[in-house]
Amino acid sequence: MKIFLNDSLVPEQDAVVSVFDHGFLYGDGIYETMRAYDGRVFMLERHIQRLQRSASLIQLRAPSPEYISAAIYRTIQENGLNSAYVRVTVSRGRGAIGLDPALCPEPTFVVIAEDFKEYPDKYYREGVKLVLAKTRRNLAGALDPRIKSLNFLNNILAKLEAKEQGAYEAIMLNAEDFLAEGTICNIFFLRDNTLCTPSVEAGVLDGITRELVISLAKQNGIPVNEGKFKVEALYGASEVFFTNTTSEVMPVSQVDTVRYAVGDITKKLRELYRAEVRQAAMTDL
Ligand code: PDD
Repeated sequence: MKIFLNDSLVPEQDAVVSVFDHGFLYGDGIYETMRAYDGRVFMLERHIQRLQRSASLIQLRAPSPEYISAAIYRTIQENGLNSAYVRVTVSRGRGAIGLDPALCPEPTFVVIAEDFKEYPDKYYREGVKLVLAKTRRNLAGALDPRIKSLNFLNNILAKLEAKEQGAYEAIMLNAEDFLAEGTICNIFFLRDNTLCTPSVEAGVLDGITRELVISLAKQNGIPVNEGKFKVEALYGASEVFFTNTTSEVMPVSQVDTVRYAVGDITKKLRELYRAEVRQAAMTDL
């Protein structure tokens, strides 16, 4: 496998980063996860925009959008991939020990692209189990969830809770007891035929899949309520699903002890999302 590191493609064993990299020392950096279908990265511009926003929110100098895009496509092509998982990481770079970003003259830039491993079909047919985590989502005033940063420890703690309970994913509340999001995904549920999802103000990453699903729902006459919800609203829902770039629209069969059927709206939105993916794959690069 070839990895894009800073300015060139190198074999995986040579793709190494310094132990003085502030990404390693302090989690000082940002990332994006993307998915390529038929060799084409879905929603590439939106992902690059969000990476640039994350960079700007931590005053990190990321490479230009053109540079990032070219590096991604070179990595996909060099590895002979069609269906790919793509991860772009930008860290503060190598520097003396100390929090000051000025200690790091150059950011470290990495693109990893590997063959996409499909999720089991069963997950989409039957849904997956979620639990409510005790771990809270970061307070926007402490570490803004809109920064897709390398600091994932609170999400990892929630993920550990999910694993302990034999669940696939955990849902986090914000500090005010309102629903926020999963450890790597946004949550949706259906109540009174309205599609509900925590608003960005509830302290979530504004997922790119979330944004597309909201717009597909609206275009197809499904009312959408982006707001602040307590967990009881989720327990009382008729359908639940989550979204992210890799899983797309993933049905949820259970949250804690409450069970849900994989419902028609979930299936419809999943189909509409897949149609968008197919449509994008047909347009020229
Ligand atoms: N995670 N919320 C969090 C905390 C996330 O980490 C992600 C994405 C999302 C969904 O965003 P999008 O629809 O743009 O993928 C929501 C990716 C998949 C990851 O961490 O690998």
